Amino acid sequence: MYHNETEYGLGAMKVLTVANRKGGAGKSTCAAHLALESIRDGIKTIIVDLDPQKTLEGWWNRRDSDDLPLIDLPEKKTEEVLKNISSKGFELCIVDTPGDASQNSRLGISLADLVLIPSKPTAPDLSAIGRTISMVEEQDKKYVFVLTQGIVRSKATFQASSVLSSFGPVAPAVISNRTSYASAMGMGNSACEIDKAAEEEIRQVWKFIKDRLFESKQNKKSKFVA
Ligand SMILES: Nc1ncnc2c1ncn2[C@@H]1O[C@H](COP(=O)(O)OP(=O)(O)OP(=O)(O)O)[C@@H](O)[C@H]1O
Ligand SMILES: [Mg+2]
Repeated sequence: MYHNETEYGLGAMKVLTVANRKGGAGKSTCAAHLALESIRDGIKTIIVDLDPQKTLEGWWNRRDSDDLPLIDLPEKKTEEVLKNISSKGFELCIVDTPGDASQNSRLGISLADLVLIPSKPTAPDLSAIGRTISMVEEQDKKYVFVLTQGIVRSKATFQASSVLSSFGPVAPAVISNRTSYASAMGMGNSACEIDKAAEEEIRQVWKFIKDRLFESKQNKKSKFVA
């Protein structure tokens, strides 16, 4: 299965898929915070939760505001639904995936223009990262990393960043370990609303991703259509 912009005719809409086969890496927290940051940045954004645990959808259900829509993506209607939301003027679809190598994880990756791989800066997480990279490379997708739940300027975070950068680009800011993130996930909002430090790092991570997602199409591969 290999879906891309050409195949779907998605126009300007980009798909950012958040993936890591390791559970608890911080995927849903990243997806939620980046979605709200993207909206704050003026980009018409929609989210999809492909994880049967429905962490992202649970967070979304707890929101008071109706600024961020969520849509179901039934496997057999993926193409139809994506085309439909693109035609409604959405510019970005952020897809959260389960922490495993299931069909849903692979489906999420297959839809991506860019895959964001969050990782904790710990030995078990870093030693498992190769399995996630293989899953993404199998589908020939571009990927970038962001460190999550790290301690800023700690030795572990520096070392983890250097390990990840040998595989691909790493976001210039760490999504640090802050209670504001965990509580925002419980409240249906963003840590950035109450925590200046979180706001600063999410802005930096978002800018890094935005630059790669919406970069010039000159260097992009597209499927040849005879
Ligand atoms: N930056 C952070 N600071 C503090 N806690 C965090 C941070 N990121 C995530 N968490 C907490 O860690 C746990 C796992 O985070 P999250 O649900 O985002 O991971 P996940 O990769 O989506 O997990 P799963 O694989 O189960 O879907 C949650 O309890 C969340 O609140
Ligand atoms: Mg999750």
